[in-house]
Amino acid sequence: MAASRATFVALVCALAITVDATQNPLTDEFINLINTKQNTWTAGRNFPLNTPFAHIKKLAGVLQDTHLAKLPKVEHDDELIDSLPENFDPRDKWPNCPTLNEVRDQGSCGSCWAFGAVEAMTDRYCTYSNGTKHFHFSAEDLLSCCPICGLGCNGGMPTLAWEYWKHFGLVSGGSYNSSQGCRPYEIPPCEHHVPGNRLPCNGDSKTPKCQKSCESNYNVDYRKDKRYGKHVFSVSSKEDHIRAELFKNGPVEGAFTVYSDLLNYKTGVYKHTIGDALGGHAVKILGWGVENGNKYWLIANSWNSDWGDNGFFKILRGEDHCGIESSIVAGEPLLVEE
Ligand SMILES: *[C@@H]1O[C@H](CO)[C@@H](O)[C@H](O)[C@H]1NC(C)=O
Ligand SMILES: *[C@@H]1O[C@H](CO)[C@@H](O)[C@H](O)[C@H]1NC(C)=O
Repeated sequence: MAASRATFVALVCALAITVDATQNPLTDEFINLINTKQNTWTAGRNFPLNTPFAHIKKLAGVLQDTHLAKLPKVEHDDELIDSLPENFDPRDKWPNCPTLNEVRDQGSCGSCWAFGAVEAMTDRYCTYSNGTKHFHFSAEDLLSCCPICGLGCNGGMPTLAWEYWKHFGLVSGGSYNSSQGCRPYEIPPCEHHVPGNRLPCNGDSKTPKCQKSCESNYNVDYRKDKRYGKHVFSVSSKEDHIRAELFKNGPVEGAFTVYSDLLNYKTGVYKHTIGDALGGHAVKILGWGVENGNKYWLIANSWNSDWGDNGFFKILRGEDHCGIESSIVAGEPLLVEE
């Protein structure tokens, strides 16, 4: 099993390197070509031209998810679907859930599968309590302590991340160097810009060790800090059911194929235009809308807030573009009385 997953990763990486040699997606020519070929989104520079491809390929870290069909699949009532608005931003519905605004940073590690999961779990802890309860789930704990999830910094499966939450729970933890929560993220953010203050992105971060203890400044026991999922489920890939889930319960985790043009996304509604597939990528989907007649999903990426539209992007909605509608996972948190 582990061997076949590793083979899958290796294939993706080999493909990406071949593409890079012939047509580097970080050149000005590539960026300009995107902008001449379509007008729903604007491309620009997010990564310096000399960013190592080892870093780029770590940005997409989802393995083929074989577990999705095993989860109970949620479908919503027509009554709810008929009542949904044309545009929905959860920050309007749940103003007391500040993590809906948060953009995290996975660093040079293929941990998007863990980030998409803990971001949506964190928001759901708040939305399910209508803004009265907060718990910032640790990407570090999930990334380092879930062996069944996959290969750590070399990729993992969103469905198993959610299952791990339900069965083993996850502690709290903020971003790198934040000193927030039990286990903050250990991998530093790296610099997308030149000149910049952060370390260069090199793509060689190792999967952190599973430490079943909290940082010394945090006064709660590791086991006591854990919070669990009550139910874990997939959502029907029909657009209306995904909208109903976002509206009723909050953000979900989705996965899709990253093509190299997405690296250069700045604003607008992304539609794959040129460039080759780099691999699978997991993200938090939070809302939807229509911009200049183009239907979109609103998504939080985990490539820091200096990527894209303050860390967010919009992608074409309603035609399973790049597979974005076909692997939606979410769950209900077990809320704890403080
Ligand atoms: C949710 O919270 C908001 C803001 O505090 C409040 O106005 C609303 O009535 C609450 N809704 C429910 C169903 O409790
Ligand atoms: C993280 O914190 C340590 C200790 O305060 C500091 O030495 C280091 O420079 C910080 N790293 C970054 C990338 O901010």
